[in-house]
Formats: sequence, C-alpha cells, structure tokens
Amino acid sequence: MKFIEWSKHFSVGNDRMDSQHRELFDIIADLRTAMASEDILVEYEAEWEVVERMIAYAIRHLSEEEQLLEESGYPDLAMHREMHREFLAKIFEIEKAIENGDDAPSVEKLCDFLEHWLAHHILEVDQQYRPYLDKNPLCAKVTPIGASRTAKRHRLVQHPLRQVV
Ligand SMILES: [Fe+2]
Repeated sequence: MKFIEWSKHFSVGNDRMDSQHRELFDIIADLRTAMASEDILVEYEAEWEVVERMIAYAIRHLSEEEQLLEESGYPDLAMHREMHREFLAKIFEIEKAIENGDDAPSVEKLCDFLEHWLAHHILEVDQQYRPYLDKNPLCAKVTPIGASRTAKRHRLVQHPLRQVV
C-alpha cells in the first residue's frame, strides 16, 4: 500500500537521484505492507528486514547525493548535510524503539516520518540543487548504489554517517 507515490513533481532533474528517491518511496510502501501481516512473528521479521533495508539504502543514497553536490560545487552543502544527519538521527532513534520491542506504533511512526520527511525534503530542499547538477558533467562518474544493496549489517553499523549522529 502506497500513501505517497513518486511522480514527476518529485523529479530533481537527475535520473540517478530520481530513481533512488523512487526506491525510497517503494521501500516505505514495502514497510506498510509488512505491517499488514496477520501473524505477529512474521510481521515483526518482515518489518525488521524492511527497516534495515531502508536504513541501508538511505545511508547510501544520502552519501551519494552529498558526493554529487560536492562535485557540483553546491554552495549550501553543509546545511544540506546537516539535514541528512538530523534525518538519520531520527531514523536511528525509531530503529532503537523497534529493537526495544515497541514495534507496532514505532513502525507506523517510522513510515509516517519517512514519507513526510522525504516528500518535503525532495520538494523543498533537494530542488534547490537542481541547477547545480544540470551543470555538472561529473554526475555520471558517481558509483551507483545497486550493487551494494545486500551489504551485511555490521558494515552499516561502522558506516561513518552512523558515527556522527
Ligand atoms: Fe537531500
């Protein structure tokens, strides 16, 4: 079940960023689907799997977006980075609540938070970097996420973005 679907209104004018934003919306939809399971154990396992997938993808997406902005000479990168860190801090906080067993309300809270944050961030904040990516011939050189999506959890725990929040 999708509450918010990606549409061209969310486009930042860069195919790679657009497809990653789209994937984030799809993962949120998967999370809402996982919440609908009738078996509580199956539901928890499914939710946890999707939460971890979301965190992994979000970390990599934000890193790649920041790398792109850095290479594009985007002047407000520091502020943009700070917003990403605040976002991750909030996700990790909810992840902890789920880990502590407060799963049902927390997973729903996570879905609501992710959808609202993502929609607002893409429409209001990411749109501001659009002209800089348009001018950047290096965009195509950034390594795509896809190949590393199945990385182990311990590698994520040690990711530098986890250390700063
Ligand atoms: Fe962003």
